[in-house]
Amino acid sequence: MTNQPHGGVLVNRELSREERSEALARAKSLPTLTISSWEISDLELIGIGGFSPLTGFMGQQDYLSVIHHTRLGDGTVWSIPITLSVSHAQARHLHVGEQIALKGEDGIIYGTLLLEEVFDYDKELEARKVYGTADRAHPGVQKVFERGEVNIAGPITLLNRSKTRFTSFYMDPRETREMFQQLGWKTIVGFQTRNPVHRAHEYIQKIALEAVDGLLLNPLVGETKSDDISAAVRMESYQVILQHYFPAERTRLVIYPAAMRYAGPKEAILHAIVRKNYGCTHFIVGRDHAGVGDYYGTYEAQELIGQYEVELGINIFKFEHAFYCEKCENMASAKTCPHDKAYHVHLSGTKVREKLRNGESLPKEFSRPEVAEVLIKALKEPVLQERTGR
Ligand code: ADX
Repeated sequence: MTNQPHGGVLVNRELSREERSEALARAKSLPTLTISSWEISDLELIGIGGFSPLTGFMGQQDYLSVIHHTRLGDGTVWSIPITLSVSHAQARHLHVGEQIALKGEDGIIYGTLLLEEVFDYDKELEARKVYGTADRAHPGVQKVFERGEVNIAGPITLLNRSKTRFTSFYMDPRETREMFQQLGWKTIVGFQTRNPVHRAHEYIQKIALEAVDGLLLNPLVGETKSDDISAAVRMESYQVILQHYFPAERTRLVIYPAAMRYAGPKEAILHAIVRKNYGCTHFIVGRDHAGVGDYYGTYEAQELIGQYEVELGINIFKFEHAFYCEKCENMASAKTCPHDKAYHVHLSGTKVREKLRNGESLPKEFSRPEVAEVLIKALKEPVLQERTGR
């Protein structure tokens, strides 16, 4: 038995093949709106059911309830607004009750929206409530301020999924649920990541795997900030680590086609909801989950998600900061290691990048050599460094 979808029903806003070609033909004569890659990711996740119970971009009631109470208007836990915004000038040409074609910058119509509502919102308030800061140096907050001034809301239909080079790792929530059943996995832990899997990640994944039937390694491959390692390089590193260090029959690699918001605690809740929709029964939240810079406390995400865990209906594995200890000769955390910090191998992201750029390998206590090799090679082959998986 995989986990129940959030809100009880797995949403499907895609059409059958025949309906889809008709809808696409009709969409060509609709008023069109060009949307960003971030918005395409959200559209897709609503469409495939990853964001169940959402069926469209949020209206004002849900929006305000989410930012003030971490719940949708009907009380279901939800932590981050999923909205579509336009400028005032664009809004003047849109009419409530009409269908709008949502087009990417590549000219592809990704979906349609039945316009139900147009509403003003306060970006500063959204930033403070969701991200805990209105500092534009925060990459998620910066995105909020880049958006249009008004939100447009209504149910969507997904007509095209985003193009991805990782098609063989793409599964929608219906497919992952079916796969778990076929594998006979009753308990599944989901792992969110936007980094290569280093030893600390591997350690917490494996502790979790000792307690459940299977691991869904579910890396985020949508838009990330410019100094994060690209999805293409990461995907190669995931395959390598799975091949060399994980039991094939107990792990699956599936992409999570979302954009990264870096909203720390609030994003941890969203990440858990999505993995529940993919069928996971457990989800890992480690140190500074989905954090960036010093905006969030190391365990703030764990504390917040802990308050909603029962209602969320997914078990949260909370892990302390893990590291390699030279005295223990093992991976450990403050919970399991009695030794002085001087024995703990720690590398900052900046240090890692610096070493890789110099063609230096990473200490094997920090990263498996096979993973470090992929990263070093990628830095020499710029084509692999393209920003997203698209
Ligand atoms: S995230 O933005 O996707 O959270 P990252 O890919 O680094 O970033 O982390 C993936 C998961 O591993 C998160 O749950 C994070 O909290 C956890 N994590 C990362 N590094 C450590 C560590 N050294 N110790 C414990 N947990 C960690």
